[in-house]
Amino acid sequence: MNRHTTEAIKARTSIRKYSSHELPGKKLSEIFDILTTENEGPFGNMCRFWLIDSESYRNEPVKLGTYGFISGLRYIIAGTVTKGAHLNMEDYGYVLERKIIQFTRMGLGTCWIGGTFRRSEYAKTTTFHDGEIIPAITPIGFPGEKQGFRERVIKYLARSKSRKEWSELFFDRTLSKPLTKEAAGIFANALEMVRIAPSANNAQPWRIIKEGKQFHFFLARNKVVKESYKTVDLQRIDLGIAIAHFDLSLREEGISGLFQTANKFPVPEEWTYITSYTAFFSE
Ligand SMILES: Cc1cc2nc3c(=O)[nH]c(=O)nc-3n(C[C@H](O)[C@H](O)[C@H](O)COP(=O)(O)O)c2cc1C
Repeated sequence: MNRHTTEAIKARTSIRKYSSHELPGKKLSEIFDILTTENEGPFGNMCRFWLIDSESYRNEPVKLGTYGFISGLRYIIAGTVTKGAHLNMEDYGYVLERKIIQFTRMGLGTCWIGGTFRRSEYAKTTTFHDGEIIPAITPIGFPGEKQGFRERVIKYLARSKSRKEWSELFFDRTLSKPLTKEAAGIFANALEMVRIAPSANNAQPWRIIKEGKQFHFFLARNKVVKESYKTVDLQRIDLGIAIAHFDLSLREEGISGLFQTANKFPVPEEWTYITSYTAFFSE
């Protein structure tokens, strides 16, 4: 079976040091193609993306930075979604992560940046419309040759490599019963792709309850992330990223499904219900 998506999800890691080389024209045109296609999320919000070459703003009063979190920063992808729209952050997370998976397959590095940039400055690099919001950006380019000291420190502080166990994240019909890989069956790989997804502060706020062919997605808020960023809900972007990993890896295995709100599903205390996925296949 062709497992390009799963392989790219496993290979992706946040890159915070870039080579200063210009991207060749062929890569740039591939990036443009990816940025201008498949921009509608599973919940119906249209996203819009553009590529910024920070070199072309060198003599202009626009501050395109990441407060020093990224070194060798030259190309940046920014995007928008409609402010306040239902499940807008989830759609933005889904759509940009699908592109990030494609960029990873092209050998390009990326790093979700949700906190450390000035949205008003990046808004100056496009025709910005009222009612739009820039939820997050990512640098894009060839990874720098050696991971820098700063990157190693950030990765260490964010405990970037560690992920929660299955038993903390996935449940079998009820919260008192953790879902095992065996019980997850053909969905085990897709759930593992959720588990290894990137998230703001590596907080991993996604929780899933499996009920047969239905998977209920919840957000277990991490107070630190919530209080740091007031304008954009980064943890709802995290949910969109996880949903992309789940959906895209299942599709690769030939399983499709539908996201919709499940009626009257009891929401565990302190969690926020996001959506439910129903797989179409006969057992
Ligand atoms: C929505 C979102 C926002 C993020 N914001 C930042 C950020 O502002 N600065 C940063 O250095 N990393 C940021 N990250 C990257 C995470 O710290 C990183 O994904 C996590 O530590 C896991 O590491 P990995 O991506 O290498 O697997 C963000 C990730 C996500 C998903």
